[in-house]
Amino acid sequence: MTAEPPRGGRARVAVLISGRGSNMAALVYAAKARECPFEIVLVASNDPEAQGLELARAEGIATFAHSHKGLKRAEFDAILDGEIRKAGAEFVALAGYMRLLSPEFVAGWHGKMLNIHPSLLPKYKGLHTHERALDAGDTHGGCSVHIVTAELDDGPVLGQTEVAILPGDTPDTLAARVLIAEHQLYSRVLAEYVGRV
Ligand code: GAR
Repeated sequence: MTAEPPRGGRARVAVLISGRGSNMAALVYAAKARECPFEIVLVASNDPEAQGLELARAEGIATFAHSHKGLKRAEFDAILDGEIRKAGAEFVALAGYMRLLSPEFVAGWHGKMLNIHPSLLPKYKGLHTHERALDAGDTHGGCSVHIVTAELDDGPVLGQTEVAILPGDTPDTLAARVLIAEHQLYSRVLAEYVGRV
């Protein structure tokens, strides 16, 4: 198979993180493939100490970090929005961005913003997803990539990966396996999505 760069250039994506940034890293590495239809043009965070920022800088990607503390949600989101647009991004990928977004921000990126969530949506929106799957006696956990809408973890699901629960799994062991699936799912779904909208 020959690896051709996409016709008409790559889709420009900004990634928002709040911490470790391993899903962001997976997107950055996926974008290194010649045939990948997206490129990461900005990694932004609401926490200047977010671990992922260092990785992004080392990869030569523009970063923006600004603490949300002391700012109203809409004020902070307007600053973020300005930076994303200045970077020329056409899409936003939330990757462990642990802050609710203002309705204005969500509306401004309607149909152009994706999120990854560590459950098989519509199950277990919000936090503690793995613990809840284990408590419920589920046979599978997993992850979902969805379009971001005004409602938390609620937009149309674009792709999911099921991950079998093993005897003796704890929330941490399950989370670690689901994370492997997240890293593969996000880049695949994002690549498909930017190619069709
Ligand atoms: C990931 O498991 C992601 O699915 C989850 O936070 C983790 C971030 O890890 N996101 C949410 O729970 C959002 N509702 P990462 O910073 O290493 O990508």
